Amino acid sequence: MNLKDCHNFQDFRELAKKKLPSPIFHYIDGGSDDEVTLRRNTEAFNDCDLVPNVLASVGSPDLSTTIFGKKINLPIFLAPTAMQRLYHHQGDIASAKAAEKFGTFYSMSTMANTTIEEISNVSSGPKLFQLYVHKDQSITDDLIERCKRSKFDGMCLTVDTLVAGNREKDHRTGFTTPPKLTLQSLMSFAIHPVWVFNYLTHSKFELANVSKKTDKGTNISKSVIEYINEQYDPAMDWKDAEYCVKKWNGPFALKGVMSVDDAKRAVDIGCTAVMISNHGGRQLDGSRSPFDQVKAISDAVGDKLEIILDGGVRRGTHVLKAIAAGAKACSFGKMFLFALGAGGQQGVEKVLQNMQDEIHRNMVLMGCKNLKALDNSKLIYRKGKF
Ligand code: FNR
Ligand code: LAC
Repeated sequence: MNLKDCHNFQDFRELAKKKLPSPIFHYIDGGSDDEVTLRRNTEAFNDCDLVPNVLASVGSPDLSTTIFGKKINLPIFLAPTAMQRLYHHQGDIASAKAAEKFGTFYSMSTMANTTIEEISNVSSGPKLFQLYVHKDQSITDDLIERCKRSKFDGMCLTVDTLVAGNREKDHRTGFTTPPKLTLQSLMSFAIHPVWVFNYLTHSKFELANVSKKTDKGTNISKSVIEYINEQYDPAMDWKDAEYCVKKWNGPFALKGVMSVDDAKRAVDIGCTAVMISNHGGRQLDGSRSPFDQVKAISDAVGDKLEIILDGGVRRGTHVLKAIAAGAKACSFGKMFLFALGAGGQQGVEKVLQNMQDEIHRNMVLMGCKNLKALDNSKLIYRKGKF
């Protein structure tokens, strides 16, 4: 099996599973606790059906939309995800270049292995930075200042990870940052010599944006759960979020909003967007799916905020359903990370091409010339919700 045989999520997942040592594969793949939310995120899209209009003279539909002040060519972009250097030795650089090629956003995690400055040197495409608020405020301030200097287009503050979710797969595999050989993982590294060779012969693994301020997670191996619980501020509140919004002074989203009330408060503190998300089912297990919340949030604040959805997006039709329910765009994590693991930049390009083709094809089949035409009338819930 190779990249050209990857037609869907499972194909990329299977190929990545072959190429990655098991602790790394399972770090991407896993959710928290019983993974109920992880599964529900995708299942939620199947509780409703699209209703097409025929003979609508669609021709070639316009898939573009505008978020964070930037026009993007398709309504899907790469979600911020930590430590991409583990999935492929080119890491974030591969992702950023692929996103730029498709005219959409690349997002950088606070826990990236590439610096803000390196990315702005290699990509002139749209760029979003994902912020975690550190206990040491000078780290947070430094990240915001550097993103300004490097002309990132937007910033999002993750608000659903004040403590780390309980990812039991990581406990079992002994996954750490940086990766460390343990008795459990020895064999899985040994049977992936290509990965080990690339890991050892390319740039050093580090949490590149914070490594000058903390050596934990760069020089000292930690489980991701320990790292998050040690570094991030569990007492973060609305005032801290407002501080970040003001300091950034540009397009700003809260990432991880799930309730209508919180979305309204996001408007009050000056956000321009919310990212409806439960962190891909990696945090609060039993949380409602983002898709189940998008209509209510869009009805309440859709005229004041850009609504972005992530979690469980695996198909072009999932994006169409999210937009019909009120989102402006979606992002995705696991699927593009498996593609990165499966084939580096080419893998990410392949997954974006697949999604672009699926969205294009299904817009034609829906009879929609542009994303505005995809409104509530195009979606019917089987349980009669709307
Ligand atoms: C993530 N996600 C994430 N989110 C964030 O705000 N900061 C981060 O550093 C990370 N890191 C991260 C690593 C990995 C391996 C995954 C899978 C996810 C969450 C991510 O941005 C997004 O919310 C989910 O991935 C969306 O769900 P799907 O598309 O993976 O189902
Ligand atoms: C994760 C963190 C790093 O989901 O956001 O693993």
